[in-house]
Formats: sequence, C-alpha cells, structure tokens
Amino acid sequence: SVGLYLEKYRPQFHFSPERNWMNDPNGLVFYNGKYHMFYQYNPYGNKWGNMSWGHAISKDLVHWEHLPVALRPDKLGMIFSGSAVVDKHNTSGLFKEKPGGLVAIYTSAGETQQQSLAYSTDDGVTWTKYEGNPVIPNPGIEDFRDPKVIWYEKEKKWVMLLAAGDHVRLYSSKNLIDWEYMSKFDEGAHGGVWECPELFELPVNGDPNNTKWVLQVDLNPGAVAGGSGGQYFIGEFDGKTFINDNPPDEIRWVDYGKDFYATQTWFNTNNRKIWIGWMNNWEYAEFIPTHPWRGAMSLPRELTLKTIPGEGIKLIQDPVIELQAIRQRPNEWKDQRIIPGQNILSDMNSNTIEIRAEFEIGSATEFGFKVRKGKSEETIIGYNTDRNQLFVDRTNSGEDQFHEQFAGKHTAPLHPVDNRIKLHIFVDHSSVEVFGNTGERVITDRIFPEPSSKGVELYVENGDVQLLSLTVNELDSIWQK
Ligand code: FRU
Repeated sequence: SVGLYLEKYRPQFHFSPERNWMNDPNGLVFYNGKYHMFYQYNPYGNKWGNMSWGHAISKDLVHWEHLPVALRPDKLGMIFSGSAVVDKHNTSGLFKEKPGGLVAIYTSAGETQQQSLAYSTDDGVTWTKYEGNPVIPNPGIEDFRDPKVIWYEKEKKWVMLLAAGDHVRLYSSKNLIDWEYMSKFDEGAHGGVWECPELFELPVNGDPNNTKWVLQVDLNPGAVAGGSGGQYFIGEFDGKTFINDNPPDEIRWVDYGKDFYATQTWFNTNNRKIWIGWMNNWEYAEFIPTHPWRGAMSLPRELTLKTIPGEGIKLIQDPVIELQAIRQRPNEWKDQRIIPGQNILSDMNSNTIEIRAEFEIGSATEFGFKVRKGKSEETIIGYNTDRNQLFVDRTNSGEDQFHEQFAGKHTAPLHPVDNRIKLHIFVDHSSVEVFGNTGERVITDRIFPEPSSKGVELYVENGDVQLLSLTVNELDSIWQK
C-alpha cells in the first residue's frame, strides 16, 4: 500500500484517524490555545466496537495532530459520546486548585447507559475517572446517552442535555456531579431514536441584543435523505425549559445530504459557535470501502442565525474562514453566458478543490458542476430552476455496491435571491460539501470515485445561465507538508 494519508479515498483536508473505526465527535473544547477534538473510536478494529475516545488537537481547526487514546472502557462499560467543559472555577472540586481543568461528561455504556465524569489536569492527554461514577444512574430508560453540558451564565450553573429515546431531557447542576432533572423536549421528527443533542444561543442577523436559542438533535433513522441525520429548533431557553418558536411538526433539517451526523459545537469559543459532524450514515457506516481506517469528520462550520424572507429564522452554516489557508492560487472567471455543450473548466484536473460561484438564473432548467469526473463516473452538484432545488447526485459517482442505500440523489429546497444562486463547494478524495446561497442549505455526501477521476465541468441544460463570478482553488493536503 501507499504511504499514510495517501491511501485510496483518504480525505486530504478533512480529519480522519490514522487507522481504525471512528464515529461521533466528542468532548469538543477550546483550551489553552488549542482546539481539542475527541471522537468515538475503536482502538482495535475497523468496525464499531470497544468504544473509546480518540483525541486530536489543532491550533487552527484545519491541521490536526493525533494524540493517544484518551478514555478507554472500564467496569461501567464502553465510553460513548459526550462533551467536555473547562471547569475554570473548580465548581466540581475535582481539582486541587484554581484554575481547575477539563472535565469530560460521557455515557458509560455497559448493562445500562449512565452518565459519568472524568477530569484532566494535563490538557486532556490523560484523564482520571471520577470515583463516584455514574453521576446520573440509569432511571429505567433504555436509550439514555450523549450528555452535552453547557454553562448557563445567567444562573451560573451547568445545564446538561441528554438523548432519551424519543425526547431530550434537560438537567442542571452547580458542580457537574449532582444533577437535577428540569424538563424535556420532544417535538419534531421521530422516525428513529434521538441521539446527540445540542443547545446554544446565537444573535439573530448579527444583533447581540436579539438572540435565540437553537436546540439540535439527531435521529437514526428517519432523516431527510434517509438513515441518520439532524434536525434543529429555534426558540427560547429560560435556564429550565426550551420553548420552540415554531409549530411542533415543522421540521428544520440541518443538512440535506446523507453524511452529516452527531454534530457537536466547541465549548469555550467566545462569540464564535463552531461545529463539526461525522461524515457518515448509520445505514452503511460500517461498509464504506476505506481501510485501514473508517470514518471522517466534516469541515468545521461556523454557525449564525439569519432571517430568510418567507422562512423565518434559519441556522446558517459556513466553513470556517481558517480553511482559506489551504487555498492554492485562484482560477477566476467573470460575467459569462454559459450555454450547453461548452465546458469552461475543461482544463481543470483535480480531486481536491473549492468552488465559489454566483449565477443569475436564465432560461436553463438546470445548471451546476460535475466533479470527480472520470471515464464512466461523475458527481453532479446542481440547481434545478423549475423546482427551486439544490442537489447532489451520486448515483454514478464511483464505488457504491457496498450498500444498496448508498447510491442516490439528495435534494434541498433553495430559493434564488434577486434571481441569483450562490454555490460554495468543497470536493475531497471521498466527499463533497455543498453550501447553497450563503450557508442557507447544506448537502454533505461521501463519494468513492477512482483517484484518477479529476475532471471538472460547468454544465447547463435546456437554455442558458449567466455566470456572474466563479473562483476555483485547488486545496492543499493538511497532512503532507
Ligand atoms: C451516535 C451514537 C451515540 C452513541 C455513539 C456510540 O452516532 O449512536 O448515540 O453515544 O454513537 O458510538
């Protein structure tokens, strides 16, 4: 085989472990100038099992350094998903002195699922499990996991969200050890079990005096593109209860592709809210054709809230600006009428690119990009003007026989603004992420094309479209220097 991080399908600017199975991001925390990323990890194999927390750190959310496995199974069971906080005032009393350190809150998954703590005084490299674990014993609920802990400044207390089968439970604590049940939330989509809840506050349209709370929760299966995925709610949180601003059955999907799951935001990033997700789907996660590792993270995305005319307040996701550091020199085009049969990108030949394009809709029924084009495969990222739909079509994108639910086309509603559509696309060795308009809609999909499939095409069907601007950058690998 070829060198590390040069293997077939190995993501070049997305995080993946050197070897073995990975799923959810866990314990995301910014601390002493480093972004920590823990993740569900099997140290002994390329399928789910022996769940532990792998660990990586980054100064810029782009380049990652691998650290040793941080948490391993114990007599209470495996280490399932959870979060981490900076206990800087030593509220837990677990630290000898101020300023405290890191506390991880995770699910111990043994005979039952219960919530446990571990703490670290060496920047998350080694951890001591709290001797009084579990801090929240199982109350007789089978699915009872994925604690996400936040600091609620107004009442100077910790708030924990837990996924409990078909609802989210909220607890509070002054010391991270003694937890009191506060409320539950169970609106929205219920096609499968709920997992990995999140809760955070953001300004609306950048106005710090007008904030809303976002409650996000994953479900498996029952998501918009099939299998596992995420939904979110916009509302108010008074320290006790989350109140949805919208009708209970109005669903807001996080991502319209099949491969964005178990998102978590970083703790302690001040005014920025940044999250990352596992680029996979439980339908086929264990079968995707990569080795000696299996699993990758999405790009980290910065979150904001914006009022979209006719749709209310929406969660906006933008790839973090730090990613601009891996751009190679830009290739630019401006103000061109695009007609069928010509491809202005025929000189491009790359399997790691970023595309930024703005179109004015013309007579064409469909336009967009074909990427990872080879002799007999391509991934189509397009916009359908009749249906007002953004889509990723991976029905002919490469290797897809490993699971019958993999091939397919994933669509998202997207309305033009002033008759214009913006696309921001990231293409890696085995994924595409598409941000429609300004991060209003996202489609994240894995693809498994041949490494030699590097063609790129700007296409249009049944008419024309005006290309207002287009910038294509090849991207550097974050692993090879
Ligand atoms: C989500 C999930 C979590 C659980 C973890 C186990 O993908 O099922 O609910 O904690 O994975 O690895």
